[in-house]
Amino acid sequence: MTARTRGSTGTATSPLVDLARTARIVVCCGSGGVGKTSTAAAVALWAAEAGRRTCVLTIDPARRLAQALGLDLLSNAPRPVQLDELEGPGSLDAMMLDMRRTFDEVIERYARDSEQVDRILANRFYQRLSSTLAGTQEYMAMEKLYELHESQRYDLLVVDTPPTRSALDFLDAPDNLNELLDARAFRLLIAPAQRIGRGYLRGLNLATTAMTKMVRRVTGSELLAEVGEFFAAFEGMYDGFKERAGLVYDQLKHPSTAFVVVATPDGPALREAAYFASRLAADRMPLGALVVNRIHRAGAVPEVPAAARAKLRAAGADGRLLADLLELHDNLETLAAAEQRRVRDLLEAVPNLGVVQVPLLPDDVHDVAGLRMLGRHLFA
Ligand SMILES: Nc1ncnc2c1ncn2[C@@H]1O[C@H](COP(=O)(O)OP(=O)(O)OP(=O)(O)O)[C@@H](O)[C@H]1O
Ligand SMILES: [Mg+2]
Repeated sequence: MTARTRGSTGTATSPLVDLARTARIVVCCGSGGVGKTSTAAAVALWAAEAGRRTCVLTIDPARRLAQALGLDLLSNAPRPVQLDELEGPGSLDAMMLDMRRTFDEVIERYARDSEQVDRILANRFYQRLSSTLAGTQEYMAMEKLYELHESQRYDLLVVDTPPTRSALDFLDAPDNLNELLDARAFRLLIAPAQRIGRGYLRGLNLATTAMTKMVRRVTGSELLAEVGEFFAAFEGMYDGFKERAGLVYDQLKHPSTAFVVVATPDGPALREAAYFASRLAADRMPLGALVVNRIHRAGAVPEVPAAARAKLRAAGADGRLLADLLELHDNLETLAAAEQRRVRDLLEAVPNLGVVQVPLLPDDVHDVAGLRMLGRHLFA
């Protein structure tokens, strides 16, 4: 059976069923606000209820959902979600990524000695880097993923991705941060031209493209001395960062990983999803499924011809109300048809993509009942 029929008829098994039963890592990505966090939590809950030891790594969940998952207590480690109805061998742990603490923990774990830890953690450039720099969150999600995967405590890790403008930021983050942390580039930048000679300008151009811009963005001139001090303190750690980023990349490419791209059925989100799918393919990363979330559906109503509607309008308040409702329904039908057209266009552009359509639910997904409801659609 082709993914087309899966997506368009809605009668075949959801591709997520297989994924949640067999994958080791599921990464939910997509542009901002489309439903990544909700999808990640719902997938994790379903897998736990299917008997797997599951952990969901969430990023900035909405407050009520965080409370429902027991994430209102600050902790940068997974904690069990209290579920009354969970039977069988499965379990569900959840954690909310604290990027600053994750960065600190990584420094503590991999530094040479406590003196190096202290020097880095006290550095003001590091403090800015670890708490405000765009891309750090994505990078730290990967560090945490690496740590949890290494621990072998779970059968399945479900990873939410940060609310970035672009889903691609997640894939680019390690490269960007690696580049920033690469002291060689920094040295090149601050070294006097005469010492490096003619190669200096070429190197500077290269470094200026990404790294300097980032350094400039996060530092005022008063911090520049701290930047130098940071790189001195960071000496010897860069290779570890780069190596772990490489290992996570390898794991993300492994067939036991599945990316689930989430999108809403509007043009920009679907275009971004198509772009992300092509980028995953180019990087040989396994695309598991596309979730089109918050789909509008119009129920069937009898066809009412224009003449009959005109009569309704002329027939008092009740008739007018009914005519207005019919018009609203027409609009909803038009919207639903446009969404289905866009999804079909996407399927033509990205063949063999397993698509799951999830309707717009009557309420936010903010508790376990909401997650189960979302899960029923995701795994239909
Ligand atoms: N199918 C749905 N029906 C109704 N509401 C939904 C649905 N899916 C998600 N929501 C709601 O939409 C909002 C955004 O969802 P969510 O937080 O999962 O998105 P996100 O992609 O993680 O956002 P961000 O990019 O900000 O992290 C939440 O309030 C959530 O409860
Ligand atoms: Mg989110």
